[in-house]
Amino acid sequence: MKLNIFHTADEVLTALAAHIVEVANEAITARGKFSIALSGGSSPKKLYELLASPAFKDQVQWEKVYFFFGDERNVPHTSSESNYLMAQKALFDPLEIDRLNFFPVDTSLEPEAAAKNYFEEIEQFFDDEELSFDLVLLGLGDDTHTASLFPGTKALHDVTPGVSANYLADKDIYRITMNAPLINDARHIAFLVYGESKAEAVFNALEADEDIELYPAQLIDSIAGEVQWFLDESAAANLEEEY
Ligand code: 6PG
Repeated sequence: MKLNIFHTADEVLTALAAHIVEVANEAITARGKFSIALSGGSSPKKLYELLASPAFKDQVQWEKVYFFFGDERNVPHTSSESNYLMAQKALFDPLEIDRLNFFPVDTSLEPEAAAKNYFEEIEQFFDDEELSFDLVLLGLGDDTHTASLFPGTKALHDVTPGVSANYLADKDIYRITMNAPLINDARHIAFLVYGESKAEAVFNALEADEDIELYPAQLIDSIAGEVQWFLDESAAANLEEEY
């Protein structure tokens, strides 16, 4: 595991964009394509805009990149809550990504069916290759959730790679999420976390006593690959150990 800590959020975003470009080009050279699972929420929007900006847009053969979603809200794709809509506006449209290169969760289906359907799409995409994303992007909630693996929820206990319809009782909603075994099979995992509101969650994820029910991000530990954290100093402020 590697921690990359920067002074400002913009420095974090630029470093992560460069990391994505590096991993993408490695994968395209090695396997002819790059598969990435995008994170949602508010933090990555600027990252996606940066990747589509003059600073980065010519550094990757985007026609060889395949975009999936680490998790999705159970809302229509037209909803402002939709992770797909956010990525479409910030990344797919500006880069004119071909419709065959991105895979939104079909939220018109019932949650369980949407989760099952999405995993089947992922299996089809990898076909007879190892089911291992080149890169999974993750965020971190103030409650130490990641993807839509929230404290005290059923999907935390999945033991085989898959996509789950995870019910959040406190919000009475479903989220569609890749589970930890699927995420941990990725070649590269990158957390994007900035802002002082995340300092406690970063400590809980990295240094608190193990308790995945309380701190689901503790579940993330790449099997064969690497996990990198891209943090600003305020998000890393509570860390005590040397990295
Ligand atoms: C989502 C995300 C989720 C997100 C965290 C952090 O769909 O909401 O995938 O895991 O990364 O909630 O969200 P912010 O970046 O908005 O703080």
